[in-house]
Amino acid sequence: MADIRNNFIGIKSPNPFWLASAPPTDKAYNVIRAFQAGWGGVVWKTLGEEGPPVVNVNGPRYGAIWGADRRLLGLNNIELITDRQLQVNLQEMKQVKKQFPDRAIIASIMVPCEEQAWKAILPLVEETEVDGIELNFGCPHGMSERGMGAAVGQVPEYIEMVVRWCKQYSRMPVITKLTPNITDIRKPARAAHAGGTDAVSLINTISSITAVNLDTFSPEPSIDGRGSHGGYCGPAVKPIALNMVAEIARDPETRGLPISGIGGVTTWRDAAEFLVLGAGNVQVCTAAMTYGFKIVQEMIEGLKSWMDEKGHATLDDVIGRATPNVTDWQYLNLNYVTKAHINQDLCIKCGRCHIACEDTSHQAITNIVDGLRHFEVIEEECVGCNLCVNVCPVEGCIDMVPLAAGQLDKRTEKVVQPTYANWTQHPNNPMHKPAPVQVPEPAE
Ligand SMILES: Cc1cc2nc3c(=O)[nH]c(=O)nc-3n(C[C@H](O)[C@H](O)[C@H](O)COP(=O)(O)O)c2cc1C
Ligand code: SF4
Ligand code: SF4
Repeated sequence: MADIRNNFIGIKSPNPFWLASAPPTDKAYNVIRAFQAGWGGVVWKTLGEEGPPVVNVNGPRYGAIWGADRRLLGLNNIELITDRQLQVNLQEMKQVKKQFPDRAIIASIMVPCEEQAWKAILPLVEETEVDGIELNFGCPHGMSERGMGAAVGQVPEYIEMVVRWCKQYSRMPVITKLTPNITDIRKPARAAHAGGTDAVSLINTISSITAVNLDTFSPEPSIDGRGSHGGYCGPAVKPIALNMVAEIARDPETRGLPISGIGGVTTWRDAAEFLVLGAGNVQVCTAAMTYGFKIVQEMIEGLKSWMDEKGHATLDDVIGRATPNVTDWQYLNLNYVTKAHINQDLCIKCGRCHIACEDTSHQAITNIVDGLRHFEVIEEECVGCNLCVNVCPVEGCIDMVPLAAGQLDKRTEKVVQPTYANWTQHPNNPMHKPAPVQVPEPAE
């Protein structure tokens, strides 16, 4: 069976599934239950400075988006960092680490952007003998208004400075957690790298308002008639997180920098997607909050089964395998031509593909043929966009079929070429380069 033991920047855990810093990791009681269920590691709920703990709201702190089956797709929260005493958290971290020496425990920290504040907390954390620290530069609400969290994560110079302090005043491995609330994720990643971080983790939550109550006109979650933006997470944010992970993994300035992938991981498949795009492990929050700690068991078994089926012996065989296949639009092969094909045996004749293509795409699907409802692709019109595949309610009913080299594309009346040709070479491109460019090396 596949070996999924994880070594992330020297921190070992029996599997690559860590719980992200959040309510599931807020106290020893939770973390012990999580480890008993099988989680490989946890990033403890973010610690703040010594002194009076932060104060949370006493009303609802979550908003949500659901699918038609009421499955939770996106979760939004206005919770702050831990509201427990620093010393209580530190004692519990030390105790749990002793009890579970084979699991990873990372201390997440958020203190003011002042050298003295970091210098003061680092030795206290180091004394607990946990495996490393994660710098929370991500929280988009509450703490950012106090000059912490995303307020630091949005300024690359601050990130670099704080990472340097942490490397200077501590021997612990440093993971820098990035905020997605920024235009170009490569900039904070580069800054963390320049400061000497051992790894980055991403994403933290996305600033959001999930809903507004149309009777009271209050954003949700409503605290006495008023709402505030919160942090969005869960399955809905996975595409954003995957892209950001890939951007950092393929950036020449940060290539090779270890990444802990976070954002919407709910199944083994989500985790595998983060790994192949370059993450060295994954962190999970919403899925555990929705389904409980035992969900990790399906993740572990699913990942192992997939690796066995594909002949991948260890995580090193899969990490980063898809990264070389992420490219810029201008390098996509314009000689790759596909056509939609409808499997008549599976079609339930609902007509959704027809109306989507007819009204908003290329009028390439019939609805009535010889007086009967019949849905078939008109190859002469189909541009291969795959909108119909995405709106069809029957999985696998519509396929996109590539035309082989030498076949005629009935829409353009051109023969499909066997060569790779991209926009940089296209005659319509005023900047086109006649010499063929190097084809990006695909992953095996
Ligand atoms: C209620 C809640 C509280 C959170 N608190 C923290 C926190 O204290 N520190 C932190 O770094 N991230 C915090 N997060 C963000 C998560 O660690 C994680 O980055 C985010 O939820 C995305 O992962 P997910 O889609 O698996 O939930 C919190 C998330 C939630 C839902
Ligand atoms: S692939 Fe696009 S153009 Fe072709 S049939 Fe489907 S929706 Fe229409
Ligand atoms: S959307 Fe799918 S099931 Fe519905 S008519 Fe089109 S092909 Fe058939």
